[in-house]
Amino acid sequence: MKTPFWKLILGLVVCFAFPWIFLLMMPYVSEAKVAPVGYTAEDEVEGISAYPERSTLRYGSSDYGAQVYAAEGCAYCHTQMVRPTYAGPDMWRYGWGGREADGLARETRPEDYLGESFAHLGYQRLGQDLSNVGHRLTREELHRHLYDPRSFDVDSGMPAYPHLYRTLEDGSIHPTEKADALVDYLLSRRKDAKIPVADTRNRQ
Ligand code: HEC
Repeated sequence: MKTPFWKLILGLVVCFAFPWIFLLMMPYVSEAKVAPVGYTAEDEVEGISAYPERSTLRYGSSDYGAQVYAAEGCAYCHTQMVRPTYAGPDMWRYGWGGREADGLARETRPEDYLGESFAHLGYQRLGQDLSNVGHRLTREELHRHLYDPRSFDVDSGMPAYPHLYRTLEDGSIHPTEKADALVDYLLSRRKDAKIPVADTRNRQ
């Protein structure tokens, strides 16, 4: 028996429409409503009015740095998303979730990406998750690591980025504008802002 052509077309539409609706449209519509939540006295957070506070996450030339991050393909090996423990042991890795010592380590939430023109969630994880790398390494360490990852770990699987640096005649090595911006961006990677108590209640 021949299957009518319209059934094939209908089958194809259903196969593509369902994943599109459930995996793209529904999360898009629900996450589009995400908005900053104000801190109240109960939160005991000083100097910051709302979560997330954009100004604390953006400094120097970190916006340009985000473009360098994309252009250099960092997202092929690094994620920026601390997964819930049911999906992976991210919270067990020291420093990934933020400052454990101050009780500020946690999983990433959609609000953490508010205000970023593009969230570099990453494609796969050959290197560490960088959501909170701004706490883990200093400016000098980040430059040294980018210039020569093997100076930290001889077995490092990370490519070196010497083209982001220039060597002067006297042999000294200096970061280019791109390297400085990229490091500003990396230092701005901190997803550990305290979640307002009121918001925690809404979610539970
Ligand atoms: C081919 C995969 C790959 C690419 C591309 C890559 N990395 Fe890495 N990265 C790694 C691996 C593997 C490690 C762990 C080994 C190490 O520390 O050197 C790492 C480690 C790091 C660390 C240290 C993290 C920590 O917590 O100690 C930083 C920072 C970093 N990468 C930034 C970058 C940036 C910025 C780029 C883009 C310019 C980049 N990586 C591109 C694989 C990669």
